[in-house]
Amino acid sequence: MDQKSLEDSLAGLPLARISYFDSVGSTNDIVGGWAKKGQKGISLAVADEQTSGRGRAGRQWFTPAGSALAFSLLMPMEHLGDLGKLASTAGLPSLAVCQALENAYKLSPQIKWPNDVLLNGRKLCGVLAEAHWSGDRLQTLIYGIGINIAPLSVPREEELNFPATSLEDELGRPVKRVELLRSILERLFLLQEKGSSSKFIRAWQSRLAFKDEAVRIKDDSENITEGIVLGLDREGSLRLKTMSNETKVFQAGEIQLRPIIDNKV
Ligand code: BTN
Repeated sequence: MDQKSLEDSLAGLPLARISYFDSVGSTNDIVGGWAKKGQKGISLAVADEQTSGRGRAGRQWFTPAGSALAFSLLMPMEHLGDLGKLASTAGLPSLAVCQALENAYKLSPQIKWPNDVLLNGRKLCGVLAEAHWSGDRLQTLIYGIGINIAPLSVPREEELNFPATSLEDELGRPVKRVELLRSILERLFLLQEKGSSSKFIRAWQSRLAFKDEAVRIKDDSENITEGIVLGLDREGSLRLKTMSNETKVFQAGEIQLRPIIDNKV
């Protein structure tokens, strides 16, 4: 991958800026810098390697050279169309990744709410969504997307907080990163331009992992709730039936969701 091949592969997509980096700290920080400088339009940074890739909840994200797809999209709110009215658009990039994987490779990915993409119960892709505000106005969303492509991109088991896999391991053959990237972006632009929010929530919900299963949720204050996953509400928040038969709703913030195995709630 290089700047020229990236631009060629993404020709015709509505991107105001495309930048490729052989090695960078974090692509989210790159596009965050663009946002601060008032970058207009949807803009993309792609890196072959990240030396300080960031995950959710302050975790590190592993992006060794030549083996992963790591990119960040700067998405001004006015480009989100109908979806911009939703309280949560956290699932948008994961839904686009799922649709690209379904279409290009006939896979059946699922979304571990809010936005991890799983293949056969193992994490393939993570999304770090960050917001940029101007005063009290939400101005720009940054979607940072990391996908394990080659087996080398999967961290060692002891460094993982959820089992992981790579696309090449699942398919048993090599994958062209730029082709997958184009396919994801096409899906994302379609969802964001034409998608109604109710259709988007339905599509997100239909790929929800652990639906009707017991899970344990830890919020950012370390409070733990156990219950059965009921589905999503109209805003994309997660509905859970707790042990005391109450319905609890979780917003996509810093939560951790884990299945409870062999331990009925
Ligand atoms: C997670 O599952 O914890 C989210 C991982 C997000 C990783 C991507 S890779 C591209 C972008 N740059 C970063 O530093 N993080 C995101």
